[in-house]
Amino acid sequence: MKYASLILGSILILLSGVATFNFVGESQNIQTKCVDSGRTLFYSQCAPCHEVFKNRTGPALAGADRRITKEMYYAIIANTPSAAKKYPYFRKQIEIYQVIMPAYPDMKREQIDCIIEFVKAAEKNPKLDFNPNPLKESAP
Ligand code: HEC
Repeated sequence: MKYASLILGSILILLSGVATFNFVGESQNIQTKCVDSGRTLFYSQCAPCHEVFKNRTGPALAGADRRITKEMYYAIIANTPSAAKKYPYFRKQIEIYQVIMPAYPDMKREQIDCIIEFVKAAEKNPKLDFNPNPLKESAP
């Protein structure tokens, strides 16, 4: 449901962008929405084990997009044991952390992309990681 309203919202934003010829501003708006939905997902699904900057039950997610490829990112979220079969890197991480990350087989790639975008945004602006309402704060 949330996703449907995000898509609907994006279409409305695109339409208003066409009306005002303000493409750059509106594409930033869509990007902000992706970061915000990624943040919500991060805090509801991932934060029990992950922080952005600190290793906890699992590794800090800051920089994960540079340590592993997108395909690896999708693979570990879909199913850690099968990702570990395919990628020796994950076997090493499981040895270090001694926990097998839960599987999220229903999580869509677009949702994972937005989690990655949130983590990247939080790396640039660490306040995002702690601010309960980052969209309001960053609004012009
Ligand atoms: C129950 C704890 C737990 C939860 C919840 C969890 N993870 Fe993990 N995650 C881990 C552990 C432990 C590892 C390292 C060992 C492994 O690969 O299983 C890991 C590894 C990762 C890695 C690889 C990072 C690296 O640098 O090696 C990524 C990316 C990742 N998790 C993303 C996520 C995302 C995104 C979510 C939420 C959708 C999530 N995790 C939810 C425990 C968790």
